[in-house]
Amino acid sequence: MSSLCCQSSTRTIRKLQHSSTLYLHPTIAEYAKMLVDKMPGNLSKVYFVNSGSEANDLAMLMARVYTQNFDIITLRNGYHGMAGQTMGLTSQNTWKYPIPHNFGIHHAINADPERGYWSHDDDNITDKYANDVKNLIEQATCGNIAAFITEVGFKSLGVDQSNKFYVFQR
Ligand SMILES: Cc1ncc(COP(=O)(O)O)c(C=O)c1O
Repeated sequence: MSSLCCQSSTRTIRKLQHSSTLYLHPTIAEYAKMLVDKMPGNLSKVYFVNSGSEANDLAMLMARVYTQNFDIITLRNGYHGMAGQTMGLTSQNTWKYPIPHNFGIHHAINADPERGYWSHDDDNITDKYANDVKNLIEQATCGNIAAFITEVGFKSLGVDQSNKFYVFQR
């Protein structure tokens, strides 16, 4: 095992002299190209991160820089990581600590079929959940937000279809 591990490390070290993306090396670009070739549409940028928390942290930063807005809407009972910023998105008390962490983050009601406020048999359910997001934007922010962040499809809470309620029109 240790010999196998040693051989594998030696092979990697011969290829990559440094693990940071600060130093250009063709391998990372070649790998990015392989990923992009598998993606649909015009997706052509790849950011390598070390965790889900870092990915979400970067998404928040990019949204804020791009839109020049600060507020972010996310959903209650979601899990998005425990880094300084992403703990603010996360809304389960088991994963939060009593430190300042959700400045500019607002939690809308989660359209969860099991735990949501309204029954999924309700004909007006889409309007009800959409109105909660609208109210938050109108009453808890300056009226413009940087991002709406939700877990899609496979959630840390399981798999559900609630995201179909959150298709936005510009
Ligand atoms: C939906 C979701 N987002 C973010 C994270 C955080 O990822 P990481 O633990 O890699 O920081 C997790 C981790 O379980 C997750 O399930």
